[in-house]
Amino acid sequence: MEMSKYSEAVEYIQARIGGDIPKTAVILGSGLGVMADEIVEKVVIPYREIPHFPLSTVAGHAGELIIGKLNFAPIIAMNGRFHYYEGYDFEQITFPIRVFALLGVENIILTNAAGGINFDYAPGDFMIIRDHINFSGVSPLRGKNLDEFGPRFPDMTNLYDNELSTRIRDLALASKININEGVYAYLQGPNYETPAEIKALRVLGADAVGMSTVPEAIVARHSGIKVAGISCITNMAAGILDKPLNHEEVKETAELVREQFKELIKNLVIDLYTAK
Ligand code: HPA
Repeated sequence: MEMSKYSEAVEYIQARIGGDIPKTAVILGSGLGVMADEIVEKVVIPYREIPHFPLSTVAGHAGELIIGKLNFAPIIAMNGRFHYYEGYDFEQITFPIRVFALLGVENIILTNAAGGINFDYAPGDFMIIRDHINFSGVSPLRGKNLDEFGPRFPDMTNLYDNELSTRIRDLALASKININEGVYAYLQGPNYETPAEIKALRVLGADAVGMSTVPEAIVARHSGIKVAGISCITNMAAGILDKPLNHEEVKETAELVREQFKELIKNLVIDLYTAK
């Protein structure tokens, strides 16, 4: 993707906002879209209006950028994200992240729904993503490096920011929200994994599995944005319980713990804003 495409999207958004761009971005994953209703003093920009932005196709995923205040903290939120399984390529999936980088975003909070692999997890738990394993086989940074964003061979040692993760843990504890910390395995989807794949992923060190977040995390880190990831464990992964998986269960669990998830994100954004 040429630099000019990112710049055109940036200029369009800046013109629509006409003021300061928030320093914190939040990507609202499956089931968290309702959080959009709690953002006030907002400007809502449908993706289709932003030059070069891809469009969201999955049911339950809206497609809009929301700039406003959540719990008094200025944020820029993506209501609806792009997945590889929808047919987008990695450049499209991560286009908004680079736009955020150019807009001056400093922190990004990536949320998602994930299957629990770790036997100690239960549906309804949360997991701070402390690291990931990219099982897609491809990096979203493949292709000509855009030096404006970051180096050709970026370090991924501290991809998920330690300080942000610690804050999330402390806030969850203070709110009595059960939260784990673990490794997120990224697979392309859209099919759920086989029981054998889940066994293999566990042996390889994964605690949860999902179909999003990792491309965005890598691209955000490449461009110097601090990354935090929070998974909602919506189901136990394939083969752990004696029942098949389905998207309904994922949605139902996400809905059950939605208030907790919202509380956590709200506390986090105001914490980040006032820490400055
Ligand atoms: N596997 C992959 N992605 C998911 C799952 C799962 O079990 N649950 C929610 N997203």
